[in-house]
Amino acid sequence: MIIKLNKIDSTNRYALREFANVANDSLIVADAQDAGRGRRGKSWFSPPGVNMYASYIIKEPLFPIYVSLWICGLAVLKTLRDTAPNIDLWLKWPNDIYCTPQHNPLAKLKMAGLLAETFSPLSSNKITGIVAGMGINLNMQKEDIEKINRPATSLFYETGIKTDLANFAENLLRNLFFYRNSAETKEEELFAEWRHENRLLNRNVTVRQDHGLIIEGEVVNFSRSGEMIIFTKDGTFQNIMSGELESF
Ligand code: BTN
Repeated sequence: MIIKLNKIDSTNRYALREFANVANDSLIVADAQDAGRGRRGKSWFSPPGVNMYASYIIKEPLFPIYVSLWICGLAVLKTLRDTAPNIDLWLKWPNDIYCTPQHNPLAKLKMAGLLAETFSPLSSNKITGIVAGMGINLNMQKEDIEKINRPATSLFYETGIKTDLANFAENLLRNLFFYRNSAETKEEELFAEWRHENRLLNRNVTVRQDHGLIIEGEVVNFSRSGEMIIFTKDGTFQNIMSGELESF
């Protein structure tokens, strides 16, 4: 079921507030957000009527939170490719969808970001749900893209295709449902597909970990528990669960 809102603070916040009142597998979609949240306390630029700001409700998840990022990453990727089959889109661990434009094969531009949050009822600290938020730059034009202070793009800017937001939301929900089902019945396959779409594999990266430590090296694998495995310059393997990629 799609729940359509006008302007809201944040679809994730709304979903966490209303968690008890919304059905499992709902997709909450807003026209605009005035307090859109990104990772690490950043904001998510959410002008009205142009993009997808959506939160997927997962009740009683049978998988940990990082698997919801596999589900959403693959669902967003598939929905974008269904709309524009000829552009080069890829996943960047742990939660981004990037585009490399045809005319500039070295460029890496962010088209979508994911923010998954857990829900626990007030009466207990048991996690009973996941709110998986997706911000996808669809019809945003150049002037607005330029307001984002990092390399970013939109589907329209890359292709000239104007996306119908209602159709996109329906297709996205179908794909989310498909990949959630994969997570519950064939997680190995879901992981393999997610791993395959990650263009960081075999690249040299610099990661700033949450406690400030910087790690440099080559990405050699991803683990089944969502970690990025780096062979560092000093010859050790490091499994990283979260961090900010400073170069990739
Ligand atoms: C990131 O790349 O930092 C994650 C961005 C996530 C943005 C989406 S927009 C819909 C949902 N509601 C929010 O407040 N954030 C997520």
